[in-house]
Amino acid sequence: MSDEISFLGRDVVSMRDFTRKDIEFIMDVSEAMIPYAKGEKTKRLLNGKILGNLFFEPSTRTRLSFESAAYRLGASVIDVLQASMTSIAKGETLVDTIRMVDSYCDTIVLRHPHDGASRLAANVSKNPVINAGDGTGSHPTQTLLDLFTMRRLKGSIDGLNIALVGDLKYGRTVHSLSDALTMFGAKLTFVAPESLQMPEDIITGLKRKGCKPTQTASLDDVIEDSDVLYITRIQKERFPDPSEYQKVAGTYRINNETLRQAKKDLVILHPLPRVDEIAPEVDITQHARYFEQAFNGIPVRMALLCLILGGEI
Ligand code: CP
Repeated sequence: MSDEISFLGRDVVSMRDFTRKDIEFIMDVSEAMIPYAKGEKTKRLLNGKILGNLFFEPSTRTRLSFESAAYRLGASVIDVLQASMTSIAKGETLVDTIRMVDSYCDTIVLRHPHDGASRLAANVSKNPVINAGDGTGSHPTQTLLDLFTMRRLKGSIDGLNIALVGDLKYGRTVHSLSDALTMFGAKLTFVAPESLQMPEDIITGLKRKGCKPTQTASLDDVIEDSDVLYITRIQKERFPDPSEYQKVAGTYRINNETLRQAKKDLVILHPLPRVDEIAPEVDITQHARYFEQAFNGIPVRMALLCLILGGEI
């Protein structure tokens, strides 16, 4: 594997810190990791390394796939699953917690309810920090696996019609994904109720990079022309007022009827967990690729860990 791009010791905080070339290199390494991610081959590239998994918000996929990636590579994992079980419950700050954990491991994976928490952690940690989702901010490793899934399924991302659907205001996955898709020249449509549309500052940033996203509230407007439909859960836990959530809950639901007008090779992705956005009947159609997408978290996170921690690939 070429080592012309060095990721050794790099933080993974935002997709804005990566170039298209960086992302393509990570995807190439991820591809090579697939047999190891499946356990068909074994390589202990990270023997002796320790991953510090700090999860201050619930997670199934991100936490477990980072753990799986670490174990597949021979590394060990120390973890925190809730703040109430740490000395944060006694008043310790995040900064002090990071300083301590930094000395116990070789890289920190942080999920936190506050936007900017990973950047703060990266500023105080000597070891690299990987953002595993910070509030409504971003979720860069999810974006890398989303891009990897699109490239595997479509051959290339350039020029694809991609609809991002659902909670575009509070959903961190769609924030980092739209940033990255701009680098690949995808044509973006944002489908959301007006109150959950993509934040203006993100739209402005995308336009500055030459992307001209379309916005609509109607799934019908995009279903015929989309190559990829990336749907997200409405993030109930982020609404300051529960009655505002009730107004938009269940706005979009994809079922077999919705898909009657779709292209035969439409790919449906979802970062998961889903609530009611995709009817279970869709799971057995050729469009449903979200469980494969979730598996791709393992090779992508294996690739990142190897690149950051210097595992000889
Ligand atoms: N996609 C994702 O971040 O899932 P989890 O919240 O289960 O980690």
